[in-house]
Amino acid sequence: MKTIFSGIQPSGSLTLGNYIGALSQFPALQEENQCYFCIVDEHAITVPQDRLKLKQQIRSLAALYLAAGIDPEKSVLFIQSEVPAHTQLGWMIQSISYIGELERMTQYKDKSDGKDGVSAALLTYPPLMAADILLYNTDIVPVGDDQKQHLELTRNVAERFNNRFNNIFTVPDIQITKVGARIMSLQEPTKKMSKSDANLKASIFILDEPKQIEKKIKSAVTDSEGIVRYDKENKPGVSNLLTIYSVATNKTIEKSEQEFADSGYGEFKQAVADAVVNMLSPIQQRYYEWMESDALDEVLDKGAERAQAVANKTLRKAKKAMGLGRGK
Ligand code: TYM
Repeated sequence: MKTIFSGIQPSGSLTLGNYIGALSQFPALQEENQCYFCIVDEHAITVPQDRLKLKQQIRSLAALYLAAGIDPEKSVLFIQSEVPAHTQLGWMIQSISYIGELERMTQYKDKSDGKDGVSAALLTYPPLMAADILLYNTDIVPVGDDQKQHLELTRNVAERFNNRFNNIFTVPDIQITKVGARIMSLQEPTKKMSKSDANLKASIFILDEPKQIEKKIKSAVTDSEGIVRYDKENKPGVSNLLTIYSVATNKTIEKSEQEFADSGYGEFKQAVADAVVNMLSPIQQRYYEWMESDALDEVLDKGAERAQAVANKTLRKAKKAMGLGRGK
């Protein structure tokens, strides 16, 4: 049995990219592993958030995890800010992180580029992420392709800590899905689909209604060749839709290509839209049930308690290793 940890920011509505690249991978993992799934609200405040919206998004993300198939009897589902060990270890890891290596993170560069008043926390985001992972002696971190660099940094700081102080951290491996690790924007298919894209037509949100999904997919950017064929370089739009179709129907890319060998883009897009609606409908239904249920709070209370027990133990060891406090 391995230990798995992953986190999602409650920083907006979740996209099809979040679902395919991360969330949809989680339920199968909990069958044979000890899984921790976290709502990383402290990461979300590295950029400005509206207080009430954030509160709502935290609850909504918890319901989505459950609706996607996270079983609270098997996995620990919790909110980052309800386990103080995360920020405590995050601070300690900041002390062994270098400004230079943090400034090299592409996510930091993208989010700070051209902006005034960039928060210090946006720069120190990765040490907090490393703390999330290291607190649970995590073996495997399932994430989308865009988190590779953060995971590499996590491995580096874990090894740095182990060498400098005491060998207490497990150095985690990243797990990235073969198909769908980077779902692209429907409007600019060379850019990843993102929660924060200002163009609402660029992203499908997990909670979009069938009509919206259909409309967005029908207006997705393709090309003028008119042939449904996977070629990421020359046909990024069609390739992205093929990836989405293949994940939503559980068919290979090759099989999906064959299926549309004689179809035009109109017919192809309709099939992609139907497949996405079929994949998301049951999740949406369960989502609304969870949102209305009192059980959501019970799950999160229990999750925080279980997470704290493990996290506090690791924190105690890390403090002792660094010489903090009285070493109790
Ligand atoms: P976040 O909230 O941006 O995204 C959550 C997960 O969704 C994946 N993802 C995608 N996968 C495929 N295609 C896309 N277009 C796409 N967009 C997002 C992300 O890779 C991620 O797996 N830093 C993390 C949150 C985090 C975390 C952690 C993750 C904090 N602590 C510890 C793992 C372990 C983030 O911003 O994810």
